[in-house]
Amino acid sequence: MLLLSILSAFTVVTISIANPTQVVQKSEPNICTIVVCGPAQSGLPGRDGRDGKEGPKGEKGNPGLQGLKGSQGPPGKMGPAGPEGAKGSQGEKGSKGDVGGRGLQGVPGLKGDRGAGGPAGPKGDKGLSGEKGAKGEIGLPGTAGQQGLPGNPGSPGPKGDKGPVGEKGGKGDKGDRGLQGATGSQGPTGRTGSSGPKGDKGSQGEKGTKGDSGLSEINLLKTQVRTLERKLDTLQNSFSKYKKVIMFPNGRIVGEKVFMTNGYESNFENLKQRCSQAGGQLASPRNSAENAAIQQIVAMHNKAAFLGINDIQTERQFQYLNGQAITYSNWLPGEPNNDKGIEDCVEVFAHGKWNDKSCKETRLIICEF
Ligand code: GLC
Ligand code: CA
Repeated sequence: MLLLSILSAFTVVTISIANPTQVVQKSEPNICTIVVCGPAQSGLPGRDGRDGKEGPKGEKGNPGLQGLKGSQGPPGKMGPAGPEGAKGSQGEKGSKGDVGGRGLQGVPGLKGDRGAGGPAGPKGDKGLSGEKGAKGEIGLPGTAGQQGLPGNPGSPGPKGDKGPVGEKGGKGDKGDRGLQGATGSQGPTGRTGSSGPKGDKGSQGEKGTKGDSGLSEINLLKTQVRTLERKLDTLQNSFSKYKKVIMFPNGRIVGEKVFMTNGYESNFENLKQRCSQAGGQLASPRNSAENAAIQQIVAMHNKAAFLGINDIQTERQFQYLNGQAITYSNWLPGEPNNDKGIEDCVEVFAHGKWNDKSCKETRLIICEF
């Protein structure tokens, strides 16, 4: 900075080189009063300024002292913008994507084994669920960091600050489809189907080997028959004997009919009821043989018996207990006479002959089975 001081007749002007626009004017009355202003004249210097001419020009003075250091100038213009800061570091890895959706349902189990001869078994059980989906892909990189701040004026700006952490990555893509489920276990064997339709007639088989004569089998059967016959004879003999035992002394057998008494005596109605309760009926001889058997029983007990014959329903029309007219009779001569008009039942004597008699009489019971 250079400071010049200019003396003038009336004014000292101080100019600031550092700031030419700023001029300070101020009055210096004390200096201006010692200067005489007159016509120029050679010669010695006068005693005072008012007489002498202007002296020669003095030697050039020594350089003045260096002026004080000027104040700092105003700030320079703003430098150009620094280069673009380096790209911010990559954002942190995005969080793990959500688990992929469940895999598709496994393939249904194999069809059950075909039932024996019947339709195929029911469909196999549902397959196991598919495995969990694969891990989702990593998230997308975070967004770039913000641009660095402008550099300082002049020199290139420093490297921009690290950008902020990138935003969280987006949700990972849906996992891949799960692996196919394991094949279901084999279904249970189907139920036995109904019999199928009769198959076609097969082709004629090969001629078989010559069979046995069959004699041995026939002989075996003959032996078995003889054995059975012997056992049957034994049974017949035993049965015959036991019949005799059972018939003695109150029973008689005529063909397939059995006459039997237990010695009970009563009127016709009671005797009829007793035989019916025993599963038989009062003896009703259809022929002389049966009548003879009844006769023997009567003789054995020496007591006349009532037969299962009467004309209660219609006088003189004797009938069996089933209402059928009798087909055989063995009346005493003169009988039936319906004595006193009260004889509708029939008694048989020890000699085997018949007489009509009052049903209220008491006689021996003889049943037939
Ligand atoms: C006589 C008669 C006979 C009659 C009986 C009555 O024996 O000959 O027919 O039934 O008496 O008690
Ligand atoms: Ca009579």
